[in-house]
Amino acid sequence: MDPVIETKGLTHVYIDADNNQVTALGGIEMQIEPGEFVAIIGANGSGKSTLARHFNALLLPTEGNVRVHGLDTLEEDNLWKIRQNTGMVFQNPDNQIVAAVVEEDVAFGPENIGVPAEELKQRVEDALRAVDMLEYREHAPHLLSGGQKQRVAIAGTLALGSDCIVLDEPTAMLDPKGRKEILNTMRKLNKEQHITVVYITHFMTEAMQADRVIVMSEGKIAFQGTPKEVFSRVDELETLGLEAPLAAKFAFELRKSGAKIPDGIITNEELADALSSR
Ligand SMILES: Nc1ncnc2c1ncn2[C@@H]1O[C@H](COP(=O)(O)OP(=O)(O)O)[C@@H](O)[C@H]1O
Ligand SMILES: [Mg+2]
Repeated sequence: MDPVIETKGLTHVYIDADNNQVTALGGIEMQIEPGEFVAIIGANGSGKSTLARHFNALLLPTEGNVRVHGLDTLEEDNLWKIRQNTGMVFQNPDNQIVAAVVEEDVAFGPENIGVPAEELKQRVEDALRAVDMLEYREHAPHLLSGGQKQRVAIAGTLALGSDCIVLDEPTAMLDPKGRKEILNTMRKLNKEQHITVVYITHFMTEAMQADRVIVMSEGKIAFQGTPKEVFSRVDELETLGLEAPLAAKFAFELRKSGAKIPDGIITNEELADALSSR
């Protein structure tokens, strides 16, 4: 099976307002497999959003290639298919609302690609049910909470038929309750519907829930691995301006001062276990 997303030597150069070249991505090699839940973390300006925009051809490579389900984003004939396959959810929930009623908002994408009326109705219903928003189908989106708006945005990608959803800091503008709603929704879609998830976040507690964490720095992949592998690298994360979870930092400090604490502790529970079994 093809990877859902594959980049080869992906380089992106912007031309800024002063006509200077800004290399936002410098030769990224990555593969995202069907059904994976991948988190991408990295300091501001490390290239996360630029990378995300290549995953559904909102940006095209300056050098190198991006393939989505084997389809090259540089081939214009592939664009419709790619944009259907890979749904995008952005940071600001208000910028993504296109209709005055929730179900019309969710129907917008599939309607545009000519899904027949009966099927459209079914798709919208299934999508809203999947994000637990069916009871709001006739509500006005702008009156919803941030977390609910983001779930409507997610439903829009599902109704379009996306099997991969790329979310660029979807919880940055939400309260803790909204943040939890989004993460739980994506985990459920990943587990139950095998939706491939690419989740950009600056919340380490969110990234800890992924199958794999990719750490970006200055337009490159600094390192990657399971949450356990990545978040144990407390020192390196700090060098990149990122903070490891509290338990990982605490375990790291205890180890430094000579305590016999096992490697790979990143959650409070693991830390509590390690301390109480001493
Ligand atoms: N439209 C643009 N024009 C010029 N430079 C840009 C543009 N968008 C982003 N950049 C630059 O590209 C780099 C990566 O930005 P971005 O992908 O937004 O990073 P992140 O999402 O990790 O904060 C930064 O140096 C940023 O200033
Ligand atoms: Mg960004």
